[in-house]
Amino acid sequence: TQLLHEELPDVEIMVVSNREPYIHNRTPEGEISLQLPASGLVSALEPVMRTCGGTWIAHGSGSADHDTVDEHDRLRVPPAHPEYTLRRVWLSDEEIDGHYYGFSNEGLWPLCHTAFVRPLFRAEDWEAYRAVNQKFADVVVAEAGREDPIVLVQDYHFALLPRMIRNALPKATIITFWHIPWPNGETFGICPWREEIIDGLLGSTVLGFHTRQHCNNFLDATDRFMESRIDREQGSVILRGRDTLIRPYPISIEWPPAALATQGSIAECRRAVHARLGLADDVRIAVGIERFDYTKGILDRMAAVHDLLTQHPEWKEKIAFVQAAAPTRSKLGAYDKLQSDAVRLADAINAAHGTAGWKPIHLVIRHHDQREVYELFRAADVCVVSSLHDGMNLVAKEFVAARDDEQGVLVLSSFAGASRELSEALIVNPYDTRAMADAFAVALRMPESEQRDRMRLMRDVVRQRNVHRWAAQMLIDAARIRRRETIQALT
Ligand code: F6P
Repeated sequence: TQLLHEELPDVEIMVVSNREPYIHNRTPEGEISLQLPASGLVSALEPVMRTCGGTWIAHGSGSADHDTVDEHDRLRVPPAHPEYTLRRVWLSDEEIDGHYYGFSNEGLWPLCHTAFVRPLFRAEDWEAYRAVNQKFADVVVAEAGREDPIVLVQDYHFALLPRMIRNALPKATIITFWHIPWPNGETFGICPWREEIIDGLLGSTVLGFHTRQHCNNFLDATDRFMESRIDREQGSVILRGRDTLIRPYPISIEWPPAALATQGSIAECRRAVHARLGLADDVRIAVGIERFDYTKGILDRMAAVHDLLTQHPEWKEKIAFVQAAAPTRSKLGAYDKLQSDAVRLADAINAAHGTAGWKPIHLVIRHHDQREVYELFRAADVCVVSSLHDGMNLVAKEFVAARDDEQGVLVLSSFAGASRELSEALIVNPYDTRAMADAFAVALRMPESEQRDRMRLMRDVVRQRNVHRWAAQMLIDAARIRRRETIQALT
């Protein structure tokens, strides 16, 4: 924080994201209840905003019972100890259908994740996407207290926003972070509006991705589709005389995570989870925790549990695989189908291997709050992150942060950005069911001393490269460019 104040004295920080950090739900009694969304982006940015202060502009995803701006649209949060302002923007059902469900999640999401779900590009979704980006740009301009704010634009919902802000506030410093993978140039070329998207993003001062590979892919796409100058050594693109710095900033979590402060001991967490699931004392626990998304490889890891029990029947009645899955985007066919496929597969595996008092798979489909998530992490012998493709995956880092006992084994997909940093996990290819089952068997037998050695190294990485460092690196890079621009303007 101190470094930031030195590098960036007297600045206004604004964040724009689709998902708001606090969902306001109305209870049947008419009270407002708050929920933290299951979102990597929110878990990363919320601690940063609590430290830096400023304004967070987001779609108000709770119950919108009005459509004109009123006092509920500008709130000080977190409610108990307000540190920053949340400015909520309301979208109509048509806008949400076209922008969020349509272009963002049926177009860009499958396009960028290359998880073999066909991206859908409809002209009317694109229109809604553009209109919603413009709506947020107008709110940024209206909320900005000065002509040169620092605006942190988040994710694939807002590819056009950097250019729109740049046009309206030429002196703004715009830092855009793309939270999902960026595919190779040829794959990205499928998108009918590829030039507009790249042009929109190049309105940024700094454009960040999780990995070097995603940066290179973006540069390849720019090279193919735009008339621009690319400096691969510096990692920058010059378009119409303006520079954008393209750099990897691997996202992370806060250290120590706030949710850990209220947790019981490891033994208490184990007892609580065993009791809740009705497990015998000697049953070992493997967990998977995420949004119910087809990119996460949930069916693949269940198939690996089946394979484990078939190849290593000694684990029957000795292991429970707990899959906590938060329903997400259920309105879309691919998500709805995943949920029913997962229920069917869990039932089939339980029928094939289960016994009177034991079932191998516990599929719990609901939102889990942070306290429950960390309790599961602390109760687990093994945590499985088997994403078919993932920008970073913060579940992997949260599991590591939750284990202050230095025990527990992480089984991690090589296709999650996190595998670049957490190399002491058991790295697997989730498409290879047998290899994943073998990794489970190795994890369940791993001696405590080896678990400790691996966990210590991973905890060092997450501690050092925490989310404040992620944010600070982007802000410091932007601050240098900002100073350079000020000097250039004077000469
Ligand atoms: O972390 C990647 C991400 O796409 C975030 O941008 C998003 O907040 C999160 O996954 C959850 O998705 P959604 O906001 O659609 O529930």
